[in-house]
Amino acid sequence: MTFPLERPARLAVFASGRGSNLRALAAAFPPGDPLASVVLVVSNRRAAGALSLAEAHGIPAHAVPFGGDRERFEREADALLRTFGVDLVCLAGFMRVLSPAFTARYAGRILNVHPSLLPLFPGLHAQRQALSAGVRESGCTVHFVDAGVDTGAAIVQRRVPVLSNDTEQTLTARILAEEHRSYPEAVRLVLSGQVLSGQVLSSTTNQPDGRPSNPNAKAGGVTL
Ligand code: GRF
Repeated sequence: MTFPLERPARLAVFASGRGSNLRALAAAFPPGDPLASVVLVVSNRRAAGALSLAEAHGIPAHAVPFGGDRERFEREADALLRTFGVDLVCLAGFMRVLSPAFTARYAGRILNVHPSLLPLFPGLHAQRQALSAGVRESGCTVHFVDAGVDTGAAIVQRRVPVLSNDTEQTLTARILAEEHRSYPEAVRLVLSGQVLSGQVLSSTTNQPDGRPSNPNAKAGGVTL
């Protein structure tokens, strides 16, 4: 599959929790949008806020338990992706690791958002890791998903300052606001064929002057 498509793209969001990134994606890509729409939400947790949020938006929402059986989850998730004709999968607070076979099948068509400036602080509790490391800035990364955990090529990064009186909660909130801007931006870049897997196209900052930190980033096409 090559982006851009000659029709609106069909997005799926996989989420395990409250779904604030799903909310941002659904707002950015509503039904009838010429670039893309969110057409499917999958959660491994029946109680996930993301499922009720999807229902409130009229988006088909499916609970697919993961339990200890990743193969079954992936079989069912794959069937849903095919049934709904999904072009791009967005992991948004999806707290399970997908198999190398699954991520290879969707290579270049599966994204994730992570609350750190990868490759720093991959895995769980990224904000806590940043505070423990004493860094003065952190941020978020939207990246392609590969077989590793938070190792795929970055698409968009946004930076935030880490303040001396930050708690995990205050830093998390500051980063989350940037995730909500970054994820739709990354989806637009991928769908418009402007980003090559393996290349940071756009790295921006929310520092007061608002200048991009990577103004020389180059665009390219991607064949998937
Ligand atoms: C976000 O911070 C995301 O980066 C991380 O999990 C959180 C999900 O938040 N992977 P939400 O469910 O989208 O509100």
